[in-house]
Amino acid sequence: MPKVAVIGAGLIGRSWAMVFARAGWSVRLTDASPAALAAAPRLLRAALADQARHGLVADPRGAAKRIALVRTIAEAAAGADFVQECGPETIAEKIAIFKAIDAAAPARAIFASSSSAIAASKFTKRLSGRARCLVAHPVNPPHLVPIVELCPAPWTARKTVTTARRIYERIGQVPILVRREIEGFILNRLQGALLAEAFRLIGAGYVSAADLDKTIRDGLGLRWSFMGPVETIELNAPRGIADYCARYTGFYKRLQGSPAPAAVYETRNTRRVIRSWGKPLKPARHAAKTRWRDARLAALVAHKRRQQGFA
Ligand SMILES: NC(=O)c1ccc[n+]([C@@H]2O[C@H](COP(=O)([O-])OP(=O)(O)OC[C@H]3O[C@@H](n4cnc5c(N)ncnc54)[C@H](O)[C@@H]3O)[C@@H](O)[C@H]2O)c1
Repeated sequence: MPKVAVIGAGLIGRSWAMVFARAGWSVRLTDASPAALAAAPRLLRAALADQARHGLVADPRGAAKRIALVRTIAEAAAGADFVQECGPETIAEKIAIFKAIDAAAPARAIFASSSSAIAASKFTKRLSGRARCLVAHPVNPPHLVPIVELCPAPWTARKTVTTARRIYERIGQVPILVRREIEGFILNRLQGALLAEAFRLIGAGYVSAADLDKTIRDGLGLRWSFMGPVETIELNAPRGIADYCARYTGFYKRLQGSPAPAAVYETRNTRRVIRSWGKPLKPARHAAKTRWRDARLAALVAHKRRQQGFA
C-alpha cells in the first residue's frame, strides 16, 4: 500500500488525507497543534460518511482506518512515498516544515506543498532535496473539487512533475501543469480577474450583488461546470474560435482598455459590496451554509462522474 504523509490537519490537510485514504493509500497525518490533531478523527469520519451518501467513497470506515495520527513531521515522513504539506501560508513556516520533511523522508519521496500563493522557489531553494519539491495547489475542499495546480520551481526535476501528475490522476484528482512560476498560479488569476470586475460593477451601482451572483450561478457557471471558457467560445460562433474572435473581440479589446483598478478592493468600495450583499452570516449559519455547499458539491461531482465527455 503506498504511503503519504500529510503535514497539517486543518481544513486542507484533513481533506487531502481523505482523498488519499479513499484511493487506498495509507495516510499519516500530523499537526503542530494537539487540539487540531485530536479534532481530526471525528471530522474525518463525518466528512467520509457524507461522501459515502453521494457514492464518492465505497468504504468510508475502511478509508478512515487508513488515516493514522502521528505527533511529529519526522514520524509522518519516515517511509513515505509522497508528502502533502498543508501548513500555514507563510514562507518562514514552509521553510521550517520542508526542512523537517527533507530530513526525514526517504530519497524516493516527492514533497508537494498545498500553498495557495507562495511559489516553491521561495521555500525550497536551500534544501538538498529541492529537485523533488513542487507546489500542488488544490481548491477547497480537494475531496470534492478535484483540480490541482502543479507548479514546479526552476530546479524541480521533470520526473518529480510527471510522477506527481500520475499520482494525482490515480487518486482521482485532475492535475494541470503551470509551466513556470507566476503569482496566483492559474486558478486564482482567473478568479481575481472575475472578482475585480464584479467588485467594480457592484461598487459603481450597475448591479446588485445578488443579481451579479445569479449571472454566474444561473448563467456562465452552468456551462463552466463541464466546459472551460475556451471550449465555451468554440461553440459560441458557428465556425469556432477564430470566428468568435473575428466577431466579438472588438468589444473585449475596448473592455481591456479600462480594466478594474486595484481601488475596487479599498474599503470605500468593499463596504458598498458588503452592503449590497446584506447581513453577514452568524457563525452557526456560516457553518450550516458550508455544509450545504459541500453537499451540493458532492451531488454535482457524483453527477459529473456519471456523464461522458464529448467524443
Ligand atoms: N483554505 C483554503 O481555501 C485553501 C485552498 C487551497 C490551498 N490552501 C493552502 O493550504 C495550506 C493550509 O491551509 P488551511 O486552510 O488548511 O489552513 P488551516 O489553518 O486550517 O490549517 C493549517 C494547520 O497547520 C498546522 N500547523 C502549523 N504549523 C505547523 C507545523 N510546523 N507542522 C505541522 N502543522 C502545523 C496548524 O495547527 C493548522 O492546523 C495553506 O498553505 C493554504 O494557503 C488553502
